[in-house]
Amino acid sequence: MCGIYGIINDKNNQAAQNVLEGLKKLEYRGYDSWGVSVISRDQIKIDKHIGKIGEAMTNLPSGLIALGHTRWATHGGVTDLNAHPHLDCTKKIAVIHNGIVENYQEIKEELIKKGHQFVSETDTEVIAHLIEEKAKTKTINEAVFETFKILRGSNAIAVLDYESQTIIACRNGSPLVVGLGQGQYFLASDVPAFLKETNTVYFLNDGEAVVLSKSGVKLFDIDSEKEKILTLQTLDWKLEDAEKNGYPHFLLKEIYEQLKTIPKTTSINEKEINKLTEKIKGGYKIILTGCGTASYCALATKYFFATQGVESQAISSYEFMPFSKFIDKKTLVFAISQSGETADTLIAVKEAKKRGAEIVAVINARGSTLERLADTVLSVGAGPEIAVVSTKAFTSQLSTLYLLSTAVADKFEEGKNKINKLGTVLTNLLNPVLINRLIDTAKNLMNEEHMYLIGKHLNYPATLEFALKIKETSYIHAEPFAAGELKHGVITLIQKGTPCFVLASQDEVKDEVLSSASEIKARGGLIIGVAPFESNEFDVLIKTPDLGSLTIFANIIVGQLLGYYLGVGRGADPDKPRNLAKSVTVK
Ligand code: M6R
Repeated sequence: MCGIYGIINDKNNQAAQNVLEGLKKLEYRGYDSWGVSVISRDQIKIDKHIGKIGEAMTNLPSGLIALGHTRWATHGGVTDLNAHPHLDCTKKIAVIHNGIVENYQEIKEELIKKGHQFVSETDTEVIAHLIEEKAKTKTINEAVFETFKILRGSNAIAVLDYESQTIIACRNGSPLVVGLGQGQYFLASDVPAFLKETNTVYFLNDGEAVVLSKSGVKLFDIDSEKEKILTLQTLDWKLEDAEKNGYPHFLLKEIYEQLKTIPKTTSINEKEINKLTEKIKGGYKIILTGCGTASYCALATKYFFATQGVESQAISSYEFMPFSKFIDKKTLVFAISQSGETADTLIAVKEAKKRGAEIVAVINARGSTLERLADTVLSVGAGPEIAVVSTKAFTSQLSTLYLLSTAVADKFEEGKNKINKLGTVLTNLLNPVLINRLIDTAKNLMNEEHMYLIGKHLNYPATLEFALKIKETSYIHAEPFAAGELKHGVITLIQKGTPCFVLASQDEVKDEVLSSASEIKARGGLIIGVAPFESNEFDVLIKTPDLGSLTIFANIIVGQLLGYYLGVGRGADPDKPRNLAKSVTVK
């Protein structure tokens, strides 16, 4: 939620413009409004607007130091005034913020009593005034650290201070990373903002602060306010990872990247796989958890484990608590997350840890909170996922967990071969004939208000993910059901011409799924089969390859592409769907 980007010592003396360009790379984190502040001569100047950054330009003056923000609104409507940065009364302190200040009302009341004037409805503005108040008797660093300690909730703040010409940032629960370039220093909520300048970084831990000044970057422990040693790391990310590379949208680029990222999961750290395999064979309980797409990955993995004769549970992280009492020291909790920063997932993980579980993080982004909380990290290596809608991270997580399930059944080499072949099969799948068929199908469905999806066994989680892709990218109501559920009520929704996707595989439940399809067809539904075989029940067939239990990967990619073409056709922004943010760092 919310993107933060700041530069010290901009090499072109155009810090505001360059912050704006960097923010465009972070816009996936929030796009209700944006704003940039710059230190110019004797004051801080601010430019802020509602809406997406898109091709925005700023007339802010030149300068060496700037700090900006893209907002996903929590407190206060989407207005220019509520956009960040927010200033104190002296207009010498500008603050941007990612998170929610849970106690902002009480802080605000105190500050109003002391004469502070508020201009916005946000929780963030109290931070600027509280720092101003404290800086009357303390250094700016002390004022920021002490203010931060008063804030309740999960927050990251960044402060542009005119007097000291510094950017001071504190982290508790929301991501922050510093980048060290050649004489330039960067602060961001994610690496793509500054990747074209440097890949030398430090990811802040909770309870840490950084002070970026013209002479460099200093790291602090917020509680003790003491300086700490800053240990840098060099990332192996390439610039093209954060660029569209000729694709019209990141979403399409990332869908195609799966042809490589799925097979890449076979280079997983085998030591970790072996250790986990031993534990599972030794009788550890398995709980799989995550939110949204990651929760569908959890559910699909439960089917993979069941196929190999291993029992597991899949629990959405936001429904975790009632079941946490069954966790003990012999429980492995697999926390699945692209970002590693999803608040609901982190809450579930912290609860599981308290109860003695071992945490296995199945994550894509690096340097996250989840990575730090975990006992074992299965890094799925799909590279930066910029589109808000998750695609390649999902299939890499699924593939990684599929490989683990094969290892538990002593079929790891066989599993790896299958996943390696999948890359080639999927490359053949995405041929012009299929793409044209998907584009035609999208054109025919463009004006529909509702569509339904059915699937059974592994194709059931596939319908959940397929439907989410359609909803997120095209805003069409797409509702997924287990095929067996149909006759228990859902069938009332079917009318003449209602589109219904039937996800099927060449498996033992194929006939049951086709029976459900024929029940829909008999009520006038339009049946679109997504399957590796022809059938009289299908009015349209989107043919996928017969990959046994791995057919789910092909079926999902069809859903991702269809969602993309529907979204583009309906004029939605496939990279930044309305109301969404890439990582949901609030409860
Ligand atoms: O970063 P995470 O994987 O933890 O995020 C979880 C969900 O918020 C995420 O998958 C969400 O459902 C996406 N919009 C899916 O496209």
